Amino acid sequence: MSTIDSVLTENRVFPPADAFVGQANISGRAAYDAMCAEATNDPENFWARLARENLSWATPFTRTLDESQAPFYKWFDDGTLNVSWNCLDRHLENGNADKTAIIFERDDGTSERVTYRALHARVAQFANGIAALGYKKGDRAIIYLPMSIEAVVAMQACARLGVIHSVVFGGFSAKSLQERIADVGATLVITADEQVRGGKTIPLKPAVDEAFSMGGCDAVTNVIVYRRTGGNVAWNEGRDRWMHDVTAGQPETAPAVPVEAEHPLFILYTSGSTGKPKGVQHASAGFLLWAQLTVKWTFDLKPDDVFWCTADVGWITGHTYIAYGPLAAGATQVIFEGVPTYPNAGRFWDMIARHKVSIFYTAPTAIRSLIKAADNQPDHHPDKYDLSSLRLIGSVGEPINPEAWMWYYKNVGGERCPIVDTWWQTETGGHMITPLPGVTPLKPGSCTLPLPGIAAAIVDETGGDVELGKGGFLVVKRPWPAMIRTIWGDPERFKKSYYPEELGGTYYLAGDGANRDTDGYFWIMGRIDDVLNVSGHRLGTMEVESALVAHPLVAEAAVVGRPDDLTGEAVVAFVVLKQERPDGEEAKAIAKTLREWVGREIGPIAKPKEIRFGDNLPKTRSGKIMRRLLRVVAKGETVTQDVSTLENPAILDQLGKAL
Ligand code: PRX
Repeated sequence: MSTIDSVLTENRVFPPADAFVGQANISGRAAYDAMCAEATNDPENFWARLARENLSWATPFTRTLDESQAPFYKWFDDGTLNVSWNCLDRHLENGNADKTAIIFERDDGTSERVTYRALHARVAQFANGIAALGYKKGDRAIIYLPMSIEAVVAMQACARLGVIHSVVFGGFSAKSLQERIADVGATLVITADEQVRGGKTIPLKPAVDEAFSMGGCDAVTNVIVYRRTGGNVAWNEGRDRWMHDVTAGQPETAPAVPVEAEHPLFILYTSGSTGKPKGVQHASAGFLLWAQLTVKWTFDLKPDDVFWCTADVGWITGHTYIAYGPLAAGATQVIFEGVPTYPNAGRFWDMIARHKVSIFYTAPTAIRSLIKAADNQPDHHPDKYDLSSLRLIGSVGEPINPEAWMWYYKNVGGERCPIVDTWWQTETGGHMITPLPGVTPLKPGSCTLPLPGIAAAIVDETGGDVELGKGGFLVVKRPWPAMIRTIWGDPERFKKSYYPEELGGTYYLAGDGANRDTDGYFWIMGRIDDVLNVSGHRLGTMEVESALVAHPLVAEAAVVGRPDDLTGEAVVAFVVLKQERPDGEEAKAIAKTLREWVGREIGPIAKPKEIRFGDNLPKTRSGKIMRRLLRVVAKGETVTQDVSTLENPAILDQLGKAL
């Protein structure tokens, strides 16, 4: 509640500097208003114009939007193109072959530069290599790779052939990997021997082997392994092959297979309000259009910029703003293998100075941890580094509290760089509500206004508009090209999750609560469903509960979020064991076991920060767990709500005590 109060009373406003406005790709409020008017008055023409101006089509489209199967919208659906061609080949044709596409910095501080010509050659060789193994349009490949040029090469090579990729974040466990391999029906897995982060090596290939041992992976005929460290790996002859063997001798050009605009480009799993992660399916043309446009609009990308998005390619941010958007826009970008605090808390600032980064995009969690680290390591405070190359900075993934915003603005942006606080989701494909740096006066903590073409609104539980200043559900009233197309293999769940009948069935329901102030600015209040946001990572409470109850000691579990200064939200689990409620050292030991168990079932990011044991959980007489009350208890607050419907009110006292 305190953050909500503080953001709603936030009244500092930072208008864009005249110099920035003068050079911006979208310059001044009148330009923004004109684009919004065009999009509102004639949306089909607006999107068709942008798609024709910005993408290179193999077959031009004649139909812009097909709403006949709504909410299964189709965009530009009689056109064909190739995403990789748009990201690579067209830059070779327009004289940018020798421009640096990627500056890759390894964990140890060494770096490598790759031009568009060289990246194109590497993508072509790998595409030829996997085509030679028999992979073709429509097949599914799981990519389980660390941050590397090879990760981008693998994604682009899939796109070149029309192979649908599904990237699994390297921090996910073997179990999570196995579930995704099976659900997506993958026939190819691309991984690495190990990853290197913060001076340590972490094995990846063994997780793939373990996933196979769990079953459900029989359709996979090849596991391609990128040799990152040369660490020891077990080898399955006939199935496993080195990436360098797959590419060896392959030509440096490869056909870019034209695919229908609606052909799935990728499937990315994300957490929802039930236990099973959802495979969010994105289409080729619409996604690419928005990835490229938002790089130009929100980040104001210019030919000489050096762009750096610190996300991992395992998340949507790394898809849109590393693997596709910057390349489609012809940018030079930094890709980083390591972590922000190694070898010290100045790593990001040092990299910005060395690579002359001009646009920097990171998450509030990173900013909050670096604020703390800068206090502890004053020699690595951003003011010790030359950050004068920066001209724009951005934030993504979770609400940024005004205090962190101000620190970022002053210490990183030098009170000169606009901050773009970008609200969007795995499902939206790209930015939705965000300041435009040459247009929007900034308010710390607000993601400000929707982009042109994005009909964002706040409604009540029946779908009616709420007045400014009143909170409600964040929705998008009209379709947009980069939107989720369906949940892989589960169209019914897609409809139910995002187009609920209660709201009339035509609005996209984001799952966030939001508020608008009298200037029409949006303030995101967090999720309205059972989804948590821990360090910018989306996590379903039900997923963690399912993992806990899968442990032989556990009878029942309920998981809630608690506000956390560093991670935004923290996972708190209330657990009933099959044995008597433990206390003292025994309780601590079991809690440790269960935390590790969750780490193995899902991944380290899902480990509960705190576990509390009870004889039971607070339930209504009909047996429903009262999570609302558990959220109060988890915060250490006294329950003041009416508990008369509870079967067992005394349990709240027991659960109120931390171990
Ligand atoms: O709750 C919102 C929060 O992150 C959720 C989407 O998570 P995910 O699909 O993993 O994508 C994260 C990267 C786009 C949203 O429903 N969120 C994302 N950006 C912001 C945000 N909350 C507040 N402000 C933001 N800028």
